[in-house]
Amino acid sequence: FEVKWDVESAEKSGYEHFMLKEIHEQPNAIKDTLRGRIINDGEIVLDKVKITKDEIDKIEKIFIVACGTAYHAGVVGKYAIEKFARIPVEVDIASEFRYREPIINERTLTIVVSQSGETADTIAALKEAKKHNSRVIAITNVVGSSISREADDVIYTWAGPEIAVASTKAYTTQLVALYLIALDLALKKGTIEKEYAKQICDELKKLPERAERILNYKDELQEFASNHFNTKDVFYLGRGLDYAVAMEGSLKLKEISYIHSEAYAAGELKHGTLALIENGTLVIALATQEHLFEKMLSNIREVTTRGGYVLAFAMEGNKQLEGIVEKVIYLPKTMEEVAPIITVIPLQLLAYYMAVEKGCDVDKPRNLAKSVTVE
Ligand code: G6P
Repeated sequence: FEVKWDVESAEKSGYEHFMLKEIHEQPNAIKDTLRGRIINDGEIVLDKVKITKDEIDKIEKIFIVACGTAYHAGVVGKYAIEKFARIPVEVDIASEFRYREPIINERTLTIVVSQSGETADTIAALKEAKKHNSRVIAITNVVGSSISREADDVIYTWAGPEIAVASTKAYTTQLVALYLIALDLALKKGTIEKEYAKQICDELKKLPERAERILNYKDELQEFASNHFNTKDVFYLGRGLDYAVAMEGSLKLKEISYIHSEAYAAGELKHGTLALIENGTLVIALATQEHLFEKMLSNIREVTTRGGYVLAFAMEGNKQLEGIVEKVIYLPKTMEEVAPIITVIPLQLLAYYMAVEKGCDVDKPRNLAKSVTVE
């Protein structure tokens, strides 16, 4: 199976690479994913999701199953669904899920996430879920894809064709779709205050403008990359939603720049990884989660004390990292619940510029394919 897009829509529109073009398309892609789906300031409309309130009330467990970047989106989805809808969520890698006899029944809801809708392992996971009577909601970018056809319900991400192997706008729009489904489930179940749901919706609607602002950080990130592209290892740290974003940031870097990178839940540092931190080790610390900030700060200190070089990302207005880390990049102030959509963008740009500085084939990294349709 090969996805073919028409030549015109596949043009780079003046950008050096598809990846850079697609990073820039995110404000509009987010807008398109949201279009028509939030009404009356705080109600969710997902026209191809037919699951009823009664059916939702019977759900005891949700699986989110996906591969690669879509799996990382699923990790954010878990936080959002558990927080808003109070249903336990397990996120699983499709190639694991399909072979481990997961416990699925008619009280399980399965959400599969796949940009292409054609990933072999994700299709197999979907079939496994259906075989055991789980309802399946698909989040995909490709209309008419195998996954969209086989699922019970579909949420299209409307990100437009994504050509670069490294996924960018597909991820941010998958996050938007997952927030929408989390809110929809929560509103139907009555586990979220209307006012709070409205606030989250307002924040979602502001994301395109904020994403646009982040694109202005390009020069700063490019400069940072030009000074650090020779680094051998990079560690991404975060707590809560920042940990989920750290996983995606790390994947972006390793897949296109071939720099070894790992993501860790910051609280795990002292259980092993700290042994790898020495003078000059580059650490990307994500500190957007206000309620976890103090904890994150102490993890950052664990790194700086050992000579680690820390590039931190924090919310505008929070100056507490000044003088503690080498460099802080401030993100446009956003409610921490939806911060991942904003935080990932500079990490995409950082990975991009590191790869460009190293002279890598950004759009077609070695050994990787856009869509893995065989096992
Ligand atoms: C490949 C791509 C990744 C993608 C993954 C899952 O590995 O290189 O960018 O995240 O497949 O693809 P899907 O189309 O299912 O989202």
